[in-house]
Parts: sequence; C-alpha cells; structure tokens
Amino acid sequence: MNEAANRNGSKAARKNNKTESNGGSARTNGHRRPVLITGGAGFIGSNLAHRLLASGERVIIFDNLSRPGVELNLRWLRSLYPNTLEVQIADVRDFRTLLTAVSRASHVFHLAAQVAVTTSLKDPIFDFEVNTRGTLNLLEALRTQKNPPPLLFTSTNKVYGDLAHLELTPDSTRYCPTDTGILSRGVSEETQLDFHSPYGCSKGIADQYVLDYARTFDLPTTVFRMSCIYGPHQFGNEDQGWVAHFLIRAVNEEPITIYGDGRQVRDVLFVEDLVSAFLLARENLPAVVGNAFNIGGGPANTTSLLELVGRLERMLNRPCKLDFDTIRRGDQPYYVSDTTKFREATGWSPEVGIREGLDRLHGWILESSGRLLLAVTAHQASQPLLNVPALSGGSSDGRAAISGVRK
Ligand SMILES: NC(=O)c1ccc[n+]([C@@H]2O[C@H](COP(=O)([O-])OP(=O)(O)OC[C@H]3O[C@@H](n4cnc5c(N)ncnc54)[C@H](O)[C@@H]3O)[C@@H](O)[C@H]2O)c1
Repeated sequence: MNEAANRNGSKAARKNNKTESNGGSARTNGHRRPVLITGGAGFIGSNLAHRLLASGERVIIFDNLSRPGVELNLRWLRSLYPNTLEVQIADVRDFRTLLTAVSRASHVFHLAAQVAVTTSLKDPIFDFEVNTRGTLNLLEALRTQKNPPPLLFTSTNKVYGDLAHLELTPDSTRYCPTDTGILSRGVSEETQLDFHSPYGCSKGIADQYVLDYARTFDLPTTVFRMSCIYGPHQFGNEDQGWVAHFLIRAVNEEPITIYGDGRQVRDVLFVEDLVSAFLLARENLPAVVGNAFNIGGGPANTTSLLELVGRLERMLNRPCKLDFDTIRRGDQPYYVSDTTKFREATGWSPEVGIREGLDRLHGWILESSGRLLLAVTAHQASQPLLNVPALSGGSSDGRAAISGVRK
C-alpha cells in the first residue's frame, strides 16, 4: 500500500478489511452475497458482470435500460448465466428499490449514469437527478446498512475541467504538453477540480459526495476518475464512446465528424483492463477506501483523434470519410491519466495495447453489425431499443419480459 493511501485509509477501510477477512458482511447463511452493479447492462457494467459471473459469483444488474442497445448486453449475459444473474429493471432515482438491492449486496459498483455532456446541456436538471441525486440515493441506502457493502463510483476525467492551463505545442497530428512531467506521467489526482458542463458538475459533485461519505460516515467508498474506455459491448455514438463510434462509422463507410482540429489527445483503456482494476480495488480495500484514482491507459496508450482515424484506415485498408465542425465547449485538448497512485496501491497496470484492443472491438462490431445498426437507429430516434431479435442461445422475449427482478 502506498503512503498516501495508508494515510487516507479511513476507519471504514480498516473495519471493512476485517469484515472481508472473516467473511462477515459478504456472506449470509454461508452463501456469498451477490455483487450489485448499477448500470450493469451498459458497456462497462456488462463487461464487469461477465467477468464476475464467469468466475462463479452472483450478480444483480440494476439498470433502467435507458441507453439504446443495452438490452442486447442483457440478453447476452442472461443466455450465458441464467442461474446466477439477476436483472432488476429499475432507476437509481427510485430510493426504495435501490435500498432493497443494496441490502442484499456484498459489494456495489455504481455505473448507472446519464453519460453524455451533450444531453446534460439540453437537460441539466435530468442530468443532475440521475447523476447526483441517484448517487446520493445510493450513499444513503448504504448508510442505513449495519454492514455497508463497499462502493466503487465511476467518475470521470471531466472533473478536472478543460485543463486550459496546460501549455501545449501542436505537431501535425497531436497536441504535446511542454511540461515534461505531464508528458511522461500524465495528469494526477493533485490537479485542481474544475467542473465544466452540467455533466462535469453532476458527476463531480457525486464524486465529492462519495469521498465525503468515507470521511464523514466511515463508509467504504472509492472513486475512479476514468478517462476514455473502449471495447466490445460499447454502443458508442456521437455523444459518448467515441472510439467505438469512430470504428462503427468507419466499418459502415459513413463519415465521421471531428469536433475541433482532431489533434486532441486522450489515453485509451481497454475495458478488460478496467475490469481488472475494479477487482483489484475490491481486493485491496484498505489501500483504496476514501481515495480517488485516475484510471486510464496512461502515457503508453495515447492517441489523438486524427491518429485513431489513421489506425482505422490502416486496419480497414481504406480511407475514412471525415467532416470537421467547431470544437465542443469544455473539450480538453490534452488529457492523459497519471495512474501511479492506483498502481502503487494495488500493483495494477494496463495490459492490452491499442492495436490489440481495436482488433478485439472490431471483431465484436463485425459479429454484431445487424444489432448495432438497430441500436444506432434507436439512438438517432432518441428511443430505447425495443423488440430486437434475440441473440443466439438467448430467449426471444422483448424488453417487457425482463422487467422486475428475475433470474
Ligand atoms: N465509457 C467511458 O469512457 C467512461 C469514461 C468515464 C466515466 N464513465 C462512467 O462509467 C459509467 C459507465 O459508463 P458506460 O460507458 O458503461 O455507459 P453506458 O451508457 O453503456 O452504461 C450506463 C448504464 O446506466 C443505465 N442507466 C442510465 N440511467 C439510469 C438510471 N437513472 N437508473 C438506472 N440505470 C441507468 C443505462 O441504461 C446504461 O445501461 C458511467 O457512470 C460513466 O459516466 C465512462
């Protein structure tokens, strides 16, 4: 455990570590309790659920299916794990239902969110209700428990604002920071918080509540401030999930719109590496509770938008059609995560490089192309994806048939 984590490790962490080692809160009548994943039907949640279920754990997915396409992730998981997966179609704004789910959980991963900056600009109150109020509901549900399950909250790099203070020099494909520390390590958790956009505010406030509930109420909570995550089961669209969105558009030979000059740099992290980080955080509670960690691909896995397009062109062996539009307000020209704090706390580092990650995402897009098309159409119509064809091996029922709590 690193010194900072040790210093910050709260009473809650120490208490919870004891509980974990003697199996107290995690077990009822000798059975391990299920892991609760809010937003578990989504891209990251379904990948996490898959890893847990594959290792024999029980999982409750709590999701309102508001993201077009995610029903398909549920069908995939239900076809593989009919006996150990429970699905609760519900909303994090509904405190009572959330409380019941929390009371049964050994561990909570909180992923449910309004995820798009663009949507937050159109409807800031809705964005606040889901992201801030929904997270506060969850924290309050935890606070009522005799042995509160540990909670990991998925925050975002957007809490650091547009990082306008970073000095950058452009080259032909990307912006480069002049600060050699930023260039070699990335942006650390010491960076000043500076919420931009309603989404930045709603997630940022939730992030602060989650940390404060560890401090004030001794709850075993942790925050991941995540950069750009990509991989299979991501129904990327123009508003969120840009790597998958670019690749889906390129595969379909449709134009990609780049907002700004395309030299913006991000560190990208393959979803399986993120899932490994989630599980390491769960195994190392004393080192992580009460802490926020920047999580991303780090300096070894950076790409600009233009460089990603170049990779896709080489991968597909044809040029991509590009349109350019004005840069989106608050967009960070350069963001790369410094993941040193989490590495020192748990030993984690990403294993999947960009080339391998893109190949695996490409494979999933090819095998899902018909279903992806439906999801994209539903997104354009701003509607949930209803009555999609069943996945092979899954049941043929529609959305109505998976409402309520089910195995
Ligand atoms: N994907 C990324 O690159 C990235 C980066 C930083 C942070 N995050 C955060 O990670 C989390 C998961 O992101 P994702 O990429 O898997 O997104 P996603 O949209 O695929 O998953 C979110 C899930 O939450 C569900 N949901 C939305 N509102 C809900 C509500 N009110 N009640 C219950 N369920 C609700 C959606 O139906 C969806 O299944 C989000 O909190 C997001 O802000 C993601």
